[in-house]
Amino acid sequence: MTVTIVGSQLGDEGKGALVDLWGGDADIVVRYQGGDNAGHTVVEDGEEYKLSLVPSGAVRDKVGVLGNGCVINPRTLFSEIDDLRERGLDPDVRLAKRAHVIMPYHRRLDNIEEEAKADSDLTVGTTGRGIGPTYEDKAGRRGIRVGDLLDPDVLRQRLEYVVPQKQALIEDVYGLEAGEECDVEALVEEYTEIGRRLREDDMAVNCGDFLAERREAGDNVMFEGAQGTLIDIDHGSYPYVTSSNPTAGGAATGTGVGPTVVGQGEVVGIVKSYLSRVGEGPMPTELKDDDRDEELADFIREKGGEFGTVTGRPRRIGWLDMPMLRHAARVSGFTGIAVNHLDVLAGLDEVKVGHAYELEGDERLTMPATTERWGECEPVLKEFDTWPEVDWAAVAEEGYDAIPDAAQDYLEYLSDELDVPIYAVGVGPGREQTVHIENPFDN
Ligand code: GDP
Ligand code: IMO
Ligand code: MG
Repeated sequence: MTVTIVGSQLGDEGKGALVDLWGGDADIVVRYQGGDNAGHTVVEDGEEYKLSLVPSGAVRDKVGVLGNGCVINPRTLFSEIDDLRERGLDPDVRLAKRAHVIMPYHRRLDNIEEEAKADSDLTVGTTGRGIGPTYEDKAGRRGIRVGDLLDPDVLRQRLEYVVPQKQALIEDVYGLEAGEECDVEALVEEYTEIGRRLREDDMAVNCGDFLAERREAGDNVMFEGAQGTLIDIDHGSYPYVTSSNPTAGGAATGTGVGPTVVGQGEVVGIVKSYLSRVGEGPMPTELKDDDRDEELADFIREKGGEFGTVTGRPRRIGWLDMPMLRHAARVSGFTGIAVNHLDVLAGLDEVKVGHAYELEGDERLTMPATTERWGECEPVLKEFDTWPEVDWAAVAEEGYDAIPDAAQDYLEYLSDELDVPIYAVGVGPGREQTVHIENPFDN
């Protein structure tokens, strides 16, 4: 049995919370794309864990795998593992030998390119973690893979080829000074040592084989998507995207299981009850038109804690966007959804949803394929009855029927429009602050 968790919107939908909740029934939790640009929050017994790279299942002692579709910064990985150990956990993390390694020059180049774009509307607002440059090298067939760290001769040969190119880019194209990120000897030394630790701790695996063996032995696997559909490199708002495929297809290519394996399981879209976006790009339902909108956005931002987990940046806020969700449901083939942050919308004077878009006088239910056209879309808003602030802990305990009627109407609208069942409703950040409806592992 597999369950794939996919962000339906722009990231930060609360994926970590659901991976944690249902991860109790998984034996292995596998990340299939992205790297330490992700920031997944798990709250257990009031303890908050912010994880960038270690799969969220680690908090529950599950085996965590970083699949071949991931880009891995070993410095972040080991510092995260060491932090978790200090907090009393003992995460068992495996890395795909085929996964690419984020090197110090990738991070430098990510920041240099953002700086170079700073005065144009090309700025993406990346997390600065070197994600884009690492995937560029992967596609350019000049990347360093986890498996290369295990063999100092291969590592040296690859670095001797690629580092002078990066140095030339930094110095000749951007006119800056290259630093220790381009020191081949230092890199060979540091990354050989990392390879030694990976070998010693038996962390590097053939991901596809590893998962096949474990599935044969009867293990349940959860694929943990990072980021979200609208920042997918193929299906998102290019160029304001990340450089990987957070959508469900990525779970197959990014781990080495067949698409039929992913498709025979459940694919659950994680939906935030409103929208948040960290970084640039259009957002037709953004709350920013007047003072009232901005006040509302400030209120939601504060109440929902909408500040980037990785960078601390305040997130932009908007109403739920249905054309976006219809697009997400189709691209990933959702079999169900989980709706988070219902509590954050409680007690507002108004609750609206972008039901459709208006573009050149036409009403449309789905998104245009170019970002420029998407930016021209005006939302057609649908207003809902508001629901009051209630004791959400009690609601979570009593179940779905205890959710205020107006909020139930909101949820049913969502489920009807997307034609999928709702498996869970988040009414607070904690593991116990979730209304359980169905566990996808039981299906
Ligand atoms: P992820 O990247 O999708 O895992 O999401 P993040 O962890 O970056 O952001 C989600 C934030 O919302 C975290 O601070 C969570 O603890 C919190 N959260 C998750 N679900 C809920 C919910 O239902 N209600 C509230 N109020 N907060 C939630
Ligand atoms: P989680 O997994 C929200 C955004 C960045 C930027 C764009 C490209 O926590 O949902 P990158 O560093 O990936 O090259 O940045 O993507 N972004 C995220 N936004 N949640 C995330 O992850 C994100 N990871 C990247 O803000 O706009
Ligand atoms: Mg996040």
